[in-house]
Amino acid sequence: MGVRHFLQFKDLSLEELMHVFARTRWIKDRFKRYERYWPLTDRTLVMIFEKQSTRTRLSFEAGMQQLGGNAVFLSTRDSQLGRGEPVEDAAQVISRMSDIVMIRTFEQEILERFAGVSRVPVINGLTNEYHPCQILADIYTFIEQRGDIRGKTVAWIGDSNNVCNTWLQAAELLDFNVHVSTPPGYEVEPERAGLYGTDHYEEFRDPMGAARGADLVTTDVWTSMGFEAENDERKRDFEDWQVDAEMMRVANKGALFMHCLPAHRGEEVAAEVIDGPHSVVWDEAENRLHTQKALMEFLVLGKIKESRE
Ligand code: CP
Ligand code: NVA
Repeated sequence: MGVRHFLQFKDLSLEELMHVFARTRWIKDRFKRYERYWPLTDRTLVMIFEKQSTRTRLSFEAGMQQLGGNAVFLSTRDSQLGRGEPVEDAAQVISRMSDIVMIRTFEQEILERFAGVSRVPVINGLTNEYHPCQILADIYTFIEQRGDIRGKTVAWIGDSNNVCNTWLQAAELLDFNVHVSTPPGYEVEPERAGLYGTDHYEEFRDPMGAARGADLVTTDVWTSMGFEAENDERKRDFEDWQVDAEMMRVANKGALFMHCLPAHRGEEVAAEVIDGPHSVVWDEAENRLHTQKALMEFLVLGKIKESRE
């Protein structure tokens, strides 16, 4: 098989995903014991950012260093990418000087054009359409807290954005259900979400209906990066799509609350929820580090044999 990429969640098979989760646990345990693990010595990760970031940049940069490699940060502002160098030309050059690339950009198509000519694995660090690294961490966090996610119900409250689309792809792969509640006009577009069908999600007009019986309630900002011009309109349209204590009460007992962060308390989530007992947002953010280390190990080195585990 040629170079493997992680451009959307379904780029990994179920079996590969389970391998990455198993490796995450091993890598995280070792990290917590301060035991050095340097499988990517002398390897270089290039990170290209066309949008802002705290968690994604830090988790990839620190993660690569902790695996023994180096990370180089490029942004549109201070590289030739911002001056119109064709994506394919940039990909040719960058992938000859590095071992793995992570890109945060606007349209998924830009990422796909880069990956189309890249000699090394390319990871989606967020596009308008998908945020697969986030859902890798979210599902790992669910498994860590509650065990298998298969057959469980996730409630998505808010915009049918990149994070929502990725939850829907993951539901197909891992066989769980998503209850989606968006304001009218912001519904899921199955083709844009890259879905095979509508078997794994159900749409609810009423957000309380979506939260009822959920094992996990999750949401995201009302206005994603790149859509700032719609901010005022969205604030009006999303007013009733706030995850609050009442919504958590109708979810299953022991339901978790997740948010990819950054969060806006008083908008998509009430402070009492994100800072309350259901919330696992800090573990969720930390797990970006551990899951992405396992992902990079897999994409660069392939499956690590049992003897090395
Ligand atoms: N959740 C997430 O991707 O955060 P950043 O935008 O800070 O990277
Ligand atoms: N949906 C958000 C996620 C930020 C991590 C955005 O795209 O801005």
